[in-house]
Amino acid sequence: MNIAVFASGGGSNFQAIADACVDGTIPGEIVLCVASRPDAGVLKRAEKLGILSMVLEGPSDEWTPQVIQRLNETGADFVALAGFMKMIPSALIATYPGRIVNIHPALLPDYGGKGMYGMHVHRAVIAAGESESGATVHIVDEEYDTGPVVAQERVPVLAGDSAEDLAARVLRVEHSLYPAVVKAFAEGRVHIDGKQVTIHSPNS
Ligand code: GAR
Repeated sequence: MNIAVFASGGGSNFQAIADACVDGTIPGEIVLCVASRPDAGVLKRAEKLGILSMVLEGPSDEWTPQVIQRLNETGADFVALAGFMKMIPSALIATYPGRIVNIHPALLPDYGGKGMYGMHVHRAVIAAGESESGATVHIVDEEYDTGPVVAQERVPVLAGDSAEDLAARVLRVEHSLYPAVVKAFAEGRVHIDGKQVTIHSPNS
């Protein structure tokens, strides 16, 4: 599977997926890194690994055709959003139906939607006094964080946690959850039926 990863930040999830491709856990490779800003740390990681990257500039109606063209040129057949802070245009969703996934640092449908990203999520979870949070991988649709859930993993919220403590605990879980989900897609084990997503075990 030829994977494109879209990111806006440090890119630790990009790295986790890249590492799992390099060590053979995921039968695939990252063929393109798309960053939403020129100072995104993910770009350095891509360069180090010799992975082609591009930076989005201007409004989405300008960059959408450029991205679709580059995805075509690189043969990308799957898109993983990893801390990508822009809305995915519908033309892109239509090009990759059921093949664009996102990781969100909470247990969707809770703590999702516009404005709920990064530390905002963890602050809201702590302020609400939740005893659990986690990470969710979902299929991307035309709204923020509303697409079918593919997989979730829970973590506890501990007494006295700061938002940073919780973010670090959730991120650790993301680094195993996200490569596992991408692997399942690469192995053709993900079945989507409307809002219902099933991951089949390797030998079933
Ligand atoms: C991750 O925690 C991811 O779940 C979150 O941004 C972080 C990116 O970290 N994504 C969102 O909040 C999207 N709504 P990374 O750059 O180290 O992979």
